[in-house]
Amino acid sequence: MEMAKSAPLLRISGLKKRYGSIVVADDIDLELPDRGCLGVIGPNGAGKSTLFHLLTGVVRQDSGSLMLDGVDLCAQPPHRRPSLGVVRAFQIPQCFESLSVYENVLLASYAAARLRGARARELAHNALRRTGLSGAADIPAGKLRLLDRKRLELAKALASNARLLLLDEIAGGLTDAETESLIALIQELKTMHSIIWIEHIPHALKAVADRVMVLNFGRKVMEGAPDEVMNSALVREIYMGIPADEAA
Ligand SMILES: Nc1ncnc2c1ncn2[C@@H]1O[C@H](COP(=O)(O)OP(=O)(O)O)[C@@H](O)[C@H]1O
Ligand SMILES: [Mg+2]
Repeated sequence: MEMAKSAPLLRISGLKKRYGSIVVADDIDLELPDRGCLGVIGPNGAGKSTLFHLLTGVVRQDSGSLMLDGVDLCAQPPHRRPSLGVVRAFQIPQCFESLSVYENVLLASYAAARLRGARARELAHNALRRTGLSGAADIPAGKLRLLDRKRLELAKALASNARLLLLDEIAGGLTDAETESLIALIQELKTMHSIIWIEHIPHALKAVADRVMVLNFGRKVMEGAPDEVMNSALVREIYMGIPADEAA
């Protein structure tokens, strides 16, 4: 189905999921355009990662719908969702350590985007260029330092033709300077992709996110401009992980 240009890339409606008595998605509604970054915050156990699991299909919702560009994601098995553009970058980067950086990225375009030949190679090279890894293309991936492994994780997502890029606390383990590099990279990526970034680092979200959503006990309790959300009394109250001086 062709969608009008103004239609959102992602439309989540009435999404519900519980594990026994634990509610992890409590009637979530969300719309995202095809570019930009939504930051997601909330206490541990709020259901942030579960939202990604529901989008990638490794977990099935109890009710509600997930539409990507007019396609019902729930009708698509998990292994088909990357080829539709739903791609998750992992918190702990995973790669084939003995294969080169380029080979890892090329494999992503084979497996996820289901491309072959010149188109796959072009996508892989573009992904390396955009993530600043062209110079490391021939190095075994296992030799990369942590920041470059995270870049590789993003390059693999780009080579998968990601439209909706799901980033779950990918800044973990980086130094402040490395975090700044990652922020700059995500700023660039959001000009061409729709990104959902779960992250605990307030200044990172303020720098990158166009909007921030707050989850608490599976419920979307707030969504708005980053400053407005992160300076709110509600967030200070429920999200004790943000020191008051950083949230101010
Ligand atoms: N497969 C599962 N079975 C049972 N409970 C789960 C499962 N996955 C997650 N949970 C529970 O769901 C809640 C939300 O988890 P999660 O989405 O990982 O939270 P967050 O990423 O916000 O920290 C937690 O209480 C967690 O223990
Ligand atoms: Mg999580």
